[in-house]
Amino acid sequence: MSECVIIGNATLYHGDAREILPTLDPVDLCLTDPPYGNADLWQGGATGTKSHWQLADGGANCEWDALPIDFIDLVLTSARDQIIWGGHYYALPLRRGWMVWDKTPREFTSGAVELAWSTLNQPTRAFTYPRSFLGKQHPSQKPLPLMVWCLGFAPDAHTVIDPTMGSGTTGVACMQIGRKFIGIEIERKYFDIACERIDNAQRQVQMFAQEAAP
Ligand SMILES: C[S@@+](CC[C@H](N)C(=O)[O-])C[C@H]1O[C@@H](n2cnc3c(N)ncnc32)[C@H](O)[C@@H]1O
Repeated sequence: MSECVIIGNATLYHGDAREILPTLDPVDLCLTDPPYGNADLWQGGATGTKSHWQLADGGANCEWDALPIDFIDLVLTSARDQIIWGGHYYALPLRRGWMVWDKTPREFTSGAVELAWSTLNQPTRAFTYPRSFLGKQHPSQKPLPLMVWCLGFAPDAHTVIDPTMGSGTTGVACMQIGRKFIGIEIERKYFDIACERIDNAQRQVQMFAQEAAP
């Protein structure tokens, strides 16, 4: 059973992407960050303990994802082009357009970079942006500038889908630069956070547009 919420240019589903994706038509771009399934490999670093992470607001302890998703084939059919963070955890076809998030300087001892597999026909690209826990509402929350940077390589992607949107960073990026967005999240807690962040992002864009109007 899924729930659909429409907030301006965003259509957000609370439910299982394995059930929802087959009901949707393919869009222009899938920009997503599915679970990597490496909880047992997480060593804690300077700020955490193995397999768990504390929310910035002091809320519940979150577990890192224990398993990768089992529906990557479905994700591949969701859009004409894909950018899939953690693509090296999945058996994906050979492509040249890998994207790299360089976390230097890092605050703790996780990987120095993260990798996104993409179908974009371009050389490997890299984006340098420090990894931080500050203000995060999801253990795997991606930096907003990273997702905006990704979208810049697909200027013709008018509609973007993220089938595992977590706290909705892809959606916030889409709202900031005027793309339509479809998001799916299975966990109620993160779905609610995504709705709030995407709603706020649209309000801010509208406010700036009103202020800029003659
Ligand atoms: C790595 S996180 C995404 C974090 C996101 N990039 C952000 O900035 O907040 C992956 C998310 O996929 C969700 N997920 C896992 N399986 C799912 C499924 N079958 N359907 C929809 N969402 C799912 C998890 O609950 C988790 O929030």
